Amino acid sequence: MEVLLTEEYGFCFGVERAVEMVEEAVTEGARPIRSLGPLIHNAQEMERLGEKGVSTIDSPGEADGDTIAVIRAHGVTPQVQRDLELRAAQVIDATCPFVTRVQHLAERAAEQGRDVVVAGNPDHPEMIGVVGYAPNNTYVVRDAGEVASLPTLRSPLVVSQTTIKLKTFLEVAEAVRQKADAEPQVVNTICSATRDRQDAARALAGEVDVFYVIGGRHSSNSVKLLAVCQEQCEKSFLIETPSEINPGDLQGVGRVGVTAGASTPDWLIKQVVQRLNEIGDTQTAHR
Ligand code: F3S
Repeated sequence: MEVLLTEEYGFCFGVERAVEMVEEAVTEGARPIRSLGPLIHNAQEMERLGEKGVSTIDSPGEADGDTIAVIRAHGVTPQVQRDLELRAAQVIDATCPFVTRVQHLAERAAEQGRDVVVAGNPDHPEMIGVVGYAPNNTYVVRDAGEVASLPTLRSPLVVSQTTIKLKTFLEVAEAVRQKADAEPQVVNTICSATRDRQDAARALAGEVDVFYVIGGRHSSNSVKLLAVCQEQCEKSFLIETPSEINPGDLQGVGRVGVTAGASTPDWLIKQVVQRLNEIGDTQTAHR
């Protein structure tokens, strides 16, 4: 049985960077390390970090004078950042640089008295953080339809949540054009990590008999990856750990595909590949 990994899989740049920053602090002996919100949407990786003394807090108020507070890749509002800096012993800012770019674009446009339209989910932590950089000028819209209810937009800037679909962004930009008093400045701030993983999964899905997507059941990018795999490979499964692999699904199978969501750590991917190879070897031995 051949086990094939997709060309792109696992940690995106921003998540990898955030985990590395925290690991570095752990190595330096910093304690206690508390991330504002879960550092990463993966229960197994959170458990591993938990064993090293990394925990989660829900609000800056929970950070005391000993705390090394961590801002995760989604970023936070400037107000929350200030709060953390006042309360905690130290703040590790692991905001993904692609998110920082959106925050700064919004801030600058607001300073120039312009409106900002962000295509995204207003409830998502990344969006809450961005709005905090230009609270009086920013509108977050889920789709082009929501632009219709906005007032006339002043020389608007149009940007996007890093993980939305390009189609939605382009439609929002076009709708803003109809509502603006001047030609909008359109800056595509979509990060390619999600799409790259989906494209790579699509490329492999037609060539394998069974496909495993490793990722949290609550991780939306992993669930989307599964849907992409299922389009071409009926036997596609979302698993969190190697223990969820059912050897019965691999009976007589020639090729198995493996991919992983942007929050899935490498060590977990290696465990799954190893388990699949073991099952393959056992089946060969029994033939
Ligand atoms: Fe950053 Fe893109 Fe990941 S915005 S956190 S690299 S999905």
